[in-house]
Amino acid sequence: MTRITRVESLKSDLGVADLVDLSAPQLNEGEVLARVERFALTTNNMTYAVYGDALRYWNLFPAELPGHGCMPAWGHAEIVESRSSEVPVGTRIFGYFPLATHLTMRPTTVTSRSFIDGAEHRTGTPQVYNLYELQPQDADPRLDSLTAIFRALFITSYTAADYLRERDFFDAEQFVISSASSKTAYGIAYCLADSPAEKIALTSARNMDFVKGLGHYAEAHEYADLTAVDPGRRTVYVDLSGDGDLRRRVHEHFGDQLAFDCLVGSTQAEGFPEEDASLVGPAPVFFFAALQLDAYKAEGQSRAFMQRYRRDEREFLERVGGPDRPAIKLVEHAGLEDAPAVIAEFHDGSTDPVAGHVFIPNAG
Ligand SMILES: NC(=O)c1ccc[n+]([C@@H]2O[C@H](COP(=O)([O-])OP(=O)(O)OC[C@H]3O[C@@H](n4cnc5c(N)ncnc54)[C@H](OP(=O)(O)O)[C@@H]3O)[C@@H](O)[C@H]2O)c1
Repeated sequence: MTRITRVESLKSDLGVADLVDLSAPQLNEGEVLARVERFALTTNNMTYAVYGDALRYWNLFPAELPGHGCMPAWGHAEIVESRSSEVPVGTRIFGYFPLATHLTMRPTTVTSRSFIDGAEHRTGTPQVYNLYELQPQDADPRLDSLTAIFRALFITSYTAADYLRERDFFDAEQFVISSASSKTAYGIAYCLADSPAEKIALTSARNMDFVKGLGHYAEAHEYADLTAVDPGRRTVYVDLSGDGDLRRRVHEHFGDQLAFDCLVGSTQAEGFPEEDASLVGPAPVFFFAALQLDAYKAEGQSRAFMQRYRRDEREFLERVGGPDRPAIKLVEHAGLEDAPAVIAEFHDGSTDPVAGHVFIPNAG
């Protein structure tokens, strides 16, 4: 019988994760067993955990251990057992997985390009999280790793830039972007290249050199030096940090010149952001890429969107993953044993922004 190893996070302290050993349940008619080839971890996965209750990420893969949740991650897998006539053994897929060696799934709405996992518990989240894209057999492991790291992040950068572009960038003369060393943040700066407004980075002291080396920002400042940014220019704040104190300082510093506050990330938040009635200026608007993608689907625009997206994602990956511009260095982990330590680093913020952590759960 197949043994499954899975990483489960302690909900009361998301820096703690434990490995669990399980036996794979017998497949019922219509189910398949996916063997996870690789998945990536970034701060975004921590945010899934931070929002686990508020946005129902914990529903997707029920945990075994009491008080624990399964942090989701993006990756590739191969179907190794099947009781579904539409999804045979050998099918490769890309989508959302627990940090695990295997996942039992129930494919529904199978097309030539994708299927939906219709397992009963997968409710309460946007549909994109239940969608699995069919993949070619001739995988390029490096491209697969980069895709696992960047797909959910760059699609957010891309759709956030679309969102701002559709609103004429709120006539911004500058974009001020926090947690500027994060992949989602520098992806946004990259996607906003068609706006003449300057992209200004806010980051921590330890990540300043990395941010300056990226080449996506006109200026970079430490959080403590926010007042060095020109308050006389019309500003859009693109918030990846989710830090409430920083938000307050940004609103006070730019005052009437703050045209829009776009809350995209929560690298430094402990929970879903709460309303702050005392905030000066425009209330933050949460930008949720998954809902934007569901909206494209509802409008019948998914295919057209994905066509242009894939072309532009490839160009971005060539730039950040190319040998001459090392914005990302792949760090591959065989097995799942390193996962708790890597999660602890993301939780305390000590991770190196250049490291792209990829796990090969069935290796080693
Ligand atoms: N709204 C959406 O639809 C959506 C979709 C995808 C991602 N996101 C969000 O975007 C954010 C960035 O994700 P990512 O995966 O791109 O991040 P990442 O590349 O792993 O970024 C790491 C950076 O985040 C900051 N950071 C991380 N942990 C921290 C901690 N504990 N304390 C202080 N700073 C910390 C540091 O940046 P600095 O030193 O520069 O602050 C660090 O270099 C996440 O919150 C993610 O959930 C949102």
